Amino acid sequence: MPRNVIALANQKGGVGKTSTAVNLSAAVAEAGRRVLLVDLDPQANATSGLGLQALPSGSVYEPLIHGGSLIEKIQATRFERLFMVPSEVDLAGAEIDVARSDRYLHRLRAVLDPLVELNRYDFVFVDCPPSLGILTMNALAAVDAVLVPLQCEYYALEGLSVIYRLIQRLQQNGANPGLFLEGIVMTMFDGRTSLARQVVSEVRTHFGRQVYETMIPRSVRISEAPSHGMPVLQYDPRSTGAEAYRALGQEFLQRWAALAAPAPAAPEGPAAPEPDGPVTTV
Ligand SMILES: Nc1ncnc2c1ncn2[C@@H]1O[C@H](COP(=O)(O)OP(=O)(O)OP(=O)(O)O)[C@@H](O)[C@H]1O
Ligand SMILES: [Mg+2]
Repeated sequence: MPRNVIALANQKGGVGKTSTAVNLSAAVAEAGRRVLLVDLDPQANATSGLGLQALPSGSVYEPLIHGGSLIEKIQATRFERLFMVPSEVDLAGAEIDVARSDRYLHRLRAVLDPLVELNRYDFVFVDCPPSLGILTMNALAAVDAVLVPLQCEYYALEGLSVIYRLIQRLQQNGANPGLFLEGIVMTMFDGRTSLARQVVSEVRTHFGRQVYETMIPRSVRISEAPSHGMPVLQYDPRSTGAEAYRALGQEFLQRWAALAAPAPAAPEGPAAPEPDGPVTTV
């Protein structure tokens, strides 16, 4: 049974990781679950996007380096049932400091595990920076599953195969044997362009049911919401962007419930099909 800790990761910048982290967290909280979002990115976009400040000693940095408790860093947000561990500028230095410490790949797991054991949150999401540096690697070594936001653009599939192979490596080399690709969310979809439709079709051909049915459309409301310190679900609850993230939240919860359910007779577990393997129709 997974511990319900999920990283939003993609080494490519600006693909919708933070927007998805904030709004999926909000959608799952709106659906009645208690959610914790950990901002692991020194850019602190998720932190400001939820109206919180990146203050010294307020982030995961101190626990990560000195082994203190993460629990005291948790803050409530203005969104009901949604809690957050903010980021801070010092997190940028964490890459170097963590690299110098013992068991440097497992520092985040060591601080997350006691929190997960408390069972206070139904889901913990981790918003990763746009790189495969030490912070993201710590996230991948700590979480149960990875959700990859993928922008509907030409090089999408290439970037995806990099993170896909990395997940396989972490599974196989024992760094995180249970890790799996939870899903791929197509973001900033604009159905008017044939390129976007083509990219979606290609990603679905290679990754089949791992690709979420719900796609996040390009929406001005989604891009405006962070400057008001709110998820789009709160900023403009009836907008297409809010509805899309609400649908994503429902689909996420259904998929997660299916994982927890007893395995069917012909099991198709959470492990990913080979991206270049047999085509799964959707
Ligand atoms: N569906 C969308 N429609 C329109 N704009 C969007 C959408 N999703 C994200 N954006 C905008 O695109 C930019 C990048 O999005 P976001 O910050 O979520 O990506 P990211 O992958 O977290 O970036 P980084 O790699 O820098 O952390 C932001 O300005 C955001 O407001
Ligand atoms: Mg981001």
